[in-house]
Amino acid sequence: MTIEELVQKAKEVADKAYAPYSNFYVGSALLTRKGNVFTGCNVENASYGGAICAERNAITTAVAQEGKEMIIHKIVIVTSNDAPAPPCGICRQFIAEFADYGSNETEIIFLGKEGRQIKKVSEVLPFKFEF
Ligand code: THU
Repeated sequence: MTIEELVQKAKEVADKAYAPYSNFYVGSALLTRKGNVFTGCNVENASYGGAICAERNAITTAVAQEGKEMIIHKIVIVTSNDAPAPPCGICRQFIAEFADYGSNETEIIFLGKEGRQIKKVSEVLPFKFEF
């Protein structure tokens, strides 16, 4: 599964986003260490704080299928109109929970203001919260 293929899957799911309040359609596709692909889109709510980001929807779906040992190998975040969208802070922490900070580091791929970014998780969230 190449990054291009993950981008394509993220694009497809971004079109399914439920974002009537922000009109910001986000899609995420992740590849697990086991080789499975899971996708998610953002789902908003009339009570704005209830919105769930695309990345967290993809991750919770992956955990529901693979269980708590799920490790994210790569995760892609896109928007339907190619607006720059680095993952938000909550999603960075959520990714970190299921990321590999070791020698085979999790990669996070998103569109930034300077074009496509391929970053290691330790670059995107160097000081993750831990108990
Ligand atoms: N959003 C995501 O899906 N992922 C992020 O990392 C940041 C923001 C969504 C949440 C909300 O539905 C919309 O984008 C605007 O904030």
